[in-house]
Amino acid sequence: MLWTLKKKLYRTQHQVMKVASAILPFPIPVLLTGPGSVGKLAENIRVRGLKHVMVVTDKVLMELNLADGLLESLTDNGISYTIYDKVQPNPTIQNVEDGRKLYKKKKCDSLIGFGGGSPIDCAKIIGARISNPYLSVKRMKGLFRVILPTPPLFCVPTTAGTGSETTVAAVISDPDTHEKFAISDLKLIPKIAVLDPELMVGLPPHITSTTGMDALTHAVEAYIGLNGNAFTDENAENATRLIFENLEKVYTKGSDLKARNNMALASFYGGAAFTRAYVGYVHAIAHNMGGMYGVPHGLANAIILPHVLEFCQKEAEKKLAKLALAGGIGKEGDSEEDLADKFIKKIKEMNKKMKIPTTIKELKEKDIPLIAKRALDEAHPDYPVPRIMTLEECESLIRKLLP
Ligand SMILES: NC(=O)c1ccc[n+]([C@@H]2O[C@H](COP(=O)([O-])OP(=O)(O)OC[C@H]3O[C@@H](n4cnc5c(N)ncnc54)[C@H](O)[C@@H]3O)[C@@H](O)[C@H]2O)c1
Ligand SMILES: [Fe+2]
Repeated sequence: MLWTLKKKLYRTQHQVMKVASAILPFPIPVLLTGPGSVGKLAENIRVRGLKHVMVVTDKVLMELNLADGLLESLTDNGISYTIYDKVQPNPTIQNVEDGRKLYKKKKCDSLIGFGGGSPIDCAKIIGARISNPYLSVKRMKGLFRVILPTPPLFCVPTTAGTGSETTVAAVISDPDTHEKFAISDLKLIPKIAVLDPELMVGLPPHITSTTGMDALTHAVEAYIGLNGNAFTDENAENATRLIFENLEKVYTKGSDLKARNNMALASFYGGAAFTRAYVGYVHAIAHNMGGMYGVPHGLANAIILPHVLEFCQKEAEKKLAKLALAGGIGKEGDSEEDLADKFIKKIKEMNKKMKIPTTIKELKEKDIPLIAKRALDEAHPDYPVPRIMTLEECESLIRKLLP
């Protein structure tokens, strides 16, 4: 009885959020796309009158000299820069605070997030802390808690990916509690996003595959959730088609620039879809695998996705069937049941071909109740999932991921 009432309340909130996301003024970043496009960012920053930018990135990318072209073009355009490269994968509150101190010390006036989702998210939250010094990172958790506008932010993704270059979200971990949570606010959407496939050709196969499956998860969760609209559906369909056509290509041949470009676009489209239509249980559970054990986000999503789709297959059948056709799976005239089946099989096959495991090796039975509780706390009531999960159902789904 209480559970039925709770579900009704969640659905009421989903309806309110659906209206809100249709009318909210989501800014769309200016896009610089194609091979070499990173070289055009500096002049776009210069014309905005900015003088000293902080480049937020990580050590691996600095060692690969991936940002060299960007840094040179900043200098050529008379823009000085400070590099903050201590961002960890699954970035922490400490990473944000260290970056914020450096930003203030060097008197920076803007931010470039250069890297995968980790540096981009870290840059977003550094910006939020700079303009809202009285709000701690934890206080900004959730929806629309960033009060004052953040410094100008420009994003250069080097994975494809999180889509963070166009989303309201930034995800951060608290190592003290092993929690990972999102801060979501329109003010976190970057001014400019650069989609340059040349930066992605050296991405190792195992990161290529798992980050690509993150992008697919965004498209799928946005599409089967109840808060989609024509705009998010179109973006999710385009992302899915591009990922089905290109992800295995870039996994086997990382230097395929055209396929890398298509994956960068797919990631952006996936981000455009989910930032308006939200994600679902795959993300809620994956965030906790990241917070609890440091499991890379895309890897966790790839493993969890087929299980969540099987859980809601009946409720999401119509949408899964449509997405299958949009992604080039099956043919018109196949039954919806068949198409939904084929869609889930396709994901399992892609995982297998790209050597993505079926279990999470760090997962421990004793942690399952806490992970399930935290995942549902994250998902309810915000995520407009096609089928609402009980705690028991969530625990038994997570149990299937045990090594
Ligand atoms: N803000 C959002 O909307 C959003 C959406 C999904 C996920 N996320 C978050 O993003 C984070 C994950 O981001 P990610 O999956 O892009 O991974 P990441 O940024 O953590 O990078 C993973 C690894 O790949 C390396 N790498 C990145 N680009 C490379 C390149 N071109 N060549 C070689 N190595 C490269 C990095 O140095 C790092 O070691 C998680 O914290 C996740 O929760 C955010
Ligand atoms: Fe994601």
